[in-house]
Amino acid sequence: MTEQHTRPQPFAPSRADDRMLERAEADPHRPRFHFVSPAGWLNDPNGVGQWNGTYHLFYQYNPYSPVHARIHWGHATSTDLVHWDDQPVALVPSDDGADADGCWSGVLVDDDGTPTIVYSGRRGGRELPCVAIGSDDLRTWAPLAENPVIRSAPAGVDITAYRDHCVWREGGRWRQLVGSGIAGRGGTAFLYDSDDLRSWTYVGPLLVGDAAVGSPEDPDWTGTMWECVDLFDVDGTDALVFSAWDDGVTHHSLYWTGSYVGDTFSPERLGRLDYGGRYFYAPQSFRDEAGRRVMFGWLQEGRPDEATVLAGWSGAMSLPRQVTMADDRTLVQAPVAEVATLRRDGVRTEPGRLTEGSRHALTAGDQLDVEIDLVLAPSSTFEVALRVAGEPGDADGERTRLVVERDEAGDAVLRLDRERASRDLAVDATAREGAVPVGSDDLVHLRVLVDRSVLEVFANGRPLTTRVYPTRTDALGVEIAALAGDVTVYRAETWRMADIGHGQRALWPTASSPSRA
Ligand code: FRU
Repeated sequence: MTEQHTRPQPFAPSRADDRMLERAEADPHRPRFHFVSPAGWLNDPNGVGQWNGTYHLFYQYNPYSPVHARIHWGHATSTDLVHWDDQPVALVPSDDGADADGCWSGVLVDDDGTPTIVYSGRRGGRELPCVAIGSDDLRTWAPLAENPVIRSAPAGVDITAYRDHCVWREGGRWRQLVGSGIAGRGGTAFLYDSDDLRSWTYVGPLLVGDAAVGSPEDPDWTGTMWECVDLFDVDGTDALVFSAWDDGVTHHSLYWTGSYVGDTFSPERLGRLDYGGRYFYAPQSFRDEAGRRVMFGWLQEGRPDEATVLAGWSGAMSLPRQVTMADDRTLVQAPVAEVATLRRDGVRTEPGRLTEGSRHALTAGDQLDVEIDLVLAPSSTFEVALRVAGEPGDADGERTRLVVERDEAGDAVLRLDRERASRDLAVDATAREGAVPVGSDDLVHLRVLVDRSVLEVFANGRPLTTRVYPTRTDALGVEIAALAGDVTVYRAETWRMADIGHGQRALWPTASSPSRA
């Protein structure tokens, strides 16, 4: 087996890079407790995992500019899933190899002690599966000389696209899924089999979606291609996560729960992974050493490209989420417990009843964790407003509204209203919504994490992630209100969230460890 052990090319920092870094750090919209790249462009989480206790987060990265071009693999490590240390860039597009135009998404696997990355090499407008071998400390990576390890998509299938990987060990062999789509039918994941991660046998499509069901505007449309497929077992039930893509447009992330038996996946239930749509995209998950299923997603920007280029950075990583399975075979998500270690200056509001029409200021800030437990009877509506400046209805006010509305029958909906979230009319202000399960106890648990332009909301375990770009420096208010009916708030607790520290980002990551060759 020939392996090419080359040292990744170090970056040559330039004045332009320094200025991009300074601009990024100065941007008021840049999050402080979510992971972001040193500067430049970030998209999908890649190679997420835990190795000898250390968490690894790789990501789609353009270190030179905040645009999606000639993608590298950035790399960061953590011992607590919250604070991250930047590491040397892991994968750099080769001069003339299968990944000359980009090292696209993939995964990290443990090949009997050898860290191994399976990723999509992009060249000449298409992607093919490639493999890179890591040093013991996972800081230096060498792509195989024989890349791509699969030379073409399955013969005789008219595909829409072909990329991204899920790789796992099964019965002493390796299995791999590659995301794809069959023209005229729908998204799919092609299943492969191997005993060495290099030579792969095509097994067949694991499952094929139906793009004719629904339309691209529907929040659960399954797309014409599945990006970033992720198959895993959680609490004894199988889930297949994918991101619905169509003709260059990223739509949203979905999942099927069901059972993976005998080379196929029998779907039972389709679910939306996050009600924010494209704002939580291309997620990837792993089982950590404590047995938790931990997932990260890419939080895309909602401002125009020109604004992003000026800002010097693009894209944030979601907080790590723990995913569990509910009895009804839907996925339940919550930030991992470690996120709470960032909480400072907790303030607890006395329980009380909000009468219809009443409104209260809860706290102020743009870096917050808020937990609200409430009793929301049928026919009542609760609102929490964030990044608030001015009074409701003020022409030059700003406010991002989250509403939980229960109808007469007891069905509940979480709605995001960004109509007045920013006075900047160029930023995305489209609404979002999704169903919230509420039991006969009428209880709703809301967790809201505000990190400057990033908003992650969990309503009884259902997430809604979005981006907001208020222009006013005083857009810091947090208010709660009963819009209809009486609402009993029996716990409202708020914390300021500490910075995870961007200090290490003053340095450009460069390869420092010797290659193994
Ligand atoms: C998803 C995606 C993947 C691809 C990568 C490229 O956001 O389009 O399908 O591998 O990003 O950066």
